[in-house]
Amino acid sequence: MLDAAPPVTPQPESERPNLGTRLMRRKPVEQLVAEGGQGDGGALKRSLTMWQLTMISIGATLGTGIFVVLGEGTAMAGPAIAIAFVLAGLTALFSALSYAELAGSIPVSGSSYSYTYATMGELVAWICGWCLVLEYGVSVAAVAVGWGQYLNELLDGTIGITIPEGFSAPLGEGGYINMPALVVVMLCMVFLLRGAKESARVNTIMVVIKIATLVLFCVIGFMGIKAGNYTPLAPLGVTAVTSAASLVFFSYIGFDAASTAGEEAKNPTRDLPRAIMLSLAIVTTLYCLVALVAVGAMPWQDFEGSEAALAQIMRDVTGHAFWSVVLAAGAVVAIASVVFAVLYGQTRVLFAMSRDGLMPKVFAKVDPKTGTPRINTIIVCLFCGILAATIPLGELANATSIGTLFAFALVNVAVVILRYKRPDMNRTFKVALFPVTPIVGFLLCGYLMLQLPGVTWAVFGVWMVVGLVIYFFYGMRRSSLATAEK
Ligand code: ALA
Repeated sequence: MLDAAPPVTPQPESERPNLGTRLMRRKPVEQLVAEGGQGDGGALKRSLTMWQLTMISIGATLGTGIFVVLGEGTAMAGPAIAIAFVLAGLTALFSALSYAELAGSIPVSGSSYSYTYATMGELVAWICGWCLVLEYGVSVAAVAVGWGQYLNELLDGTIGITIPEGFSAPLGEGGYINMPALVVVMLCMVFLLRGAKESARVNTIMVVIKIATLVLFCVIGFMGIKAGNYTPLAPLGVTAVTSAASLVFFSYIGFDAASTAGEEAKNPTRDLPRAIMLSLAIVTTLYCLVALVAVGAMPWQDFEGSEAALAQIMRDVTGHAFWSVVLAAGAVVAIASVVFAVLYGQTRVLFAMSRDGLMPKVFAKVDPKTGTPRINTIIVCLFCGILAATIPLGELANATSIGTLFAFALVNVAVVILRYKRPDMNRTFKVALFPVTPIVGFLLCGYLMLQLPGVTWAVFGVWMVVGLVIYFFYGMRRSSLATAEK
């Protein structure tokens, strides 16, 4: 898929920048912003409002974490799971503030990849972009895999049939192919190809449905709360609560998705920071409420091994299976919307990397009719769909959290560098208590990374080595900054 490097007339050795200088070459903020929106063959359309940007972030965030991982986290932390959600939310908050500042001053599609290109140079930018492929591309496949479980529950509850195991799991996990995963990604592709405006509309509908489902859960679950279920608060100790916080951090991944829409927003410098902060506030509030209600309505020990704890609570409190079907339907929409918004983010990050020459040019081609990167969208969706349908993702999926935390850590560093190097820049949003806030954000990301198991680190290490090989054999020679030097 990678294009071959074009033949170039070699420059005399003495005039060529040395390796260190090449790896550190930075893309000036002004150049990043000036190139914003421009693709090969046309420009992206600016159509997204603040509300739609907020929905993109919520769309990418609220899904598997609250519908599935909550159960696993509660079995670990006990009733203190709500505190674990607050702790994970705080970690996300510190980084979200840094994202908001940078998205408000460098409103381009590359998100943290572009911020690091402007501050820490090309090599770090590539590493960050490669981590975003882990955060978006690989996680979308992992999330799509889980979609089938809820779909089966919904089918079972409504028409009494389920998709046979052979067609709902890949080879190595008891089946041949995960068809639901492929289907959900292909459905998302169809809507994404219709353009950003249309995509935003579909996304908003799905987000409203998933928020409504969780609000309904809170109302029904509230009626089943028994005060005794809240004590003891942390039966397995404080360390169990912090470990649960690293686990449920997964639920917050995606709040940065609005920052990948910088080149399609109507008023990006004003709206992006607001959308990032607002989406995080809405998501955190919902997570804490759902967690509080869930552990109040069901003894924490009963969450062990229960993949559909929320549906079970609905059934137990009302005494009717109908309500657990409603919840399963909400979860099907919720997880599909994560797939949708995350696929959108992945295409836009690759678009920015391709425009900079670090990815093949085909990713930056814009369809003049829809104003979207059409071929890019088709390649990304086919790749993620096939990955989700055929590969047992196992440890690779766990590595998405480490990749995301690494990208967040870099954003916290980027905000500090840019404040010192470019104090003159126009900033529509500024991180409060600078530089303490980004430093704490950086440390919290590092802390949560250290909580992850050794095997996740090993997978991350392999991922990085592959990324570096691609950079040294492709990106370093093909980047637009390198071409300009020749
Ligand atoms: N935060 C996303 C989810 O929970 C990845 O599904």
